[in-house]
Amino acid sequence: MSAVAVIGSQWGDEGKGKITDYLAEKAEMVVRYQGGNNAGHTVVVDDKEFKLHLIPSGILYPEKMCVIGNGVVIDPEVLCKELAYLEKEGINTDNLRISLRAHLIMPYHIRLDELEEERKGVNKIGTTRRGIGPAYMDKAARVGIRVVDLMDEKEFADILQRNLEEKNHVLQKIYGVEGFKFEDIFNKYRSYLARIEKYITDTTAVINEYIEQGKKVLFEGAQGTLLDLDHGTYPYVTSSHPVAGAACIGAGIGPTKIRRVIGVVKAYTTRVGEGPFPTELLGEEGELIRKRGWEYGTTTGRPRRCGWLDAVILNYSARINGMNGCAITKLDVLDSLAKIKVCVAYEYRGQVIKNFPASLKALAECKPIYEEFEGWQTDTTKARSYEELPAKARQYIEGIAEIIKVKPVIIAVGPKREQTIFREEIF
Ligand code: IMP
Repeated sequence: MSAVAVIGSQWGDEGKGKITDYLAEKAEMVVRYQGGNNAGHTVVVDDKEFKLHLIPSGILYPEKMCVIGNGVVIDPEVLCKELAYLEKEGINTDNLRISLRAHLIMPYHIRLDELEEERKGVNKIGTTRRGIGPAYMDKAARVGIRVVDLMDEKEFADILQRNLEEKNHVLQKIYGVEGFKFEDIFNKYRSYLARIEKYITDTTAVINEYIEQGKKVLFEGAQGTLLDLDHGTYPYVTSSHPVAGAACIGAGIGPTKIRRVIGVVKAYTTRVGEGPFPTELLGEEGELIRKRGWEYGTTTGRPRRCGWLDAVILNYSARINGMNGCAITKLDVLDSLAKIKVCVAYEYRGQVIKNFPASLKALAECKPIYEEFEGWQTDTTKARSYEELPAKARQYIEGIAEIIKVKPVIIAVGPKREQTIFREEIF
């Protein structure tokens, strides 16, 4: 049995794309199990950059099976554009599989996401405005439209009609904006179906068959643990479950099937969107990290908020995900710094706490307690083995490992595939 889950251990954007891309080389199947095109992966192959939002980056390897599982919400317009982009780049997409049970993002979801953010004003979540939240709301409210529904012309027409009655009422009466026309959406979505139909199947059967045959299956998490609907910094979270356990629900496999959980840990912390961020650096150091790390959203282009590594978050994340290995990414971004800080605990109302608080009000009051590490002030981008890293960089990595009690098994020192150091076999 060889199923491995790769998840984000912070607020997303940890560099999972690169790690999953590298592991995809060893895997026989790559599966996405949650989120939608709010995610963004940048993968560099032979100096060429690929940006993907929905299709697993494993698609860049022609022989790998790539699955969009039932837990993902699919915007078929984005999916069709991504397919066209890949095909234009000469990438074969025949090995893509799309779940019959995945829910669809509809045009009214995107509109409602935008309107709701605008209505909230200063209390906005800072969503990617891709309709993710409203699509998952409909799924939970049992009025969502699934891929399987789109395939049945009459069923699709009925559900769409019922949804439009309600959504147009909300759009017109509550927000005072125009509604959507049935024919427009119906025709567009049926044309998307014609484009994607050949990939659609019961993906749970395909994934379980691979696992039973002992094939290597990689579950690719999107976003990060602190954006998880249950375990994240609620309400500043996404509407799905980026944690490892969600791979079971979002792909239709039993919990007994996942052997390894690799948490991707960026060597510092970033977050996009709103909400408290204890180790945030608002001055020059934050700006330096943002510039060196090119910390701008892949999906929205927004500048990311940057700060020191927060081990309180990592400890929490290690626990929630059952991490038994971690990948430290973007180590090279810290190359020029003389001193590097890691938050090891918080001071909250005069007390030292090490457990990540559930209350956002409490989190906003938490002051980081730092342990300081010597910077290595050496270029690490050419290191190809652990031993080639400067001693002070290894001290930083080992310091993190000791605090979070998880072994760093992968170290990334740049965006390219070859800028990755493996300390053990993952599959
Ligand atoms: P939504 O997922 O678009 O509803 O956005 C909810 C929150 O999750 C916002 O703070 C977003 O910025 C954040 N978010 C969603 N996807 C990502 C991602 O891939 N990386 C980082 N943050 C994300």
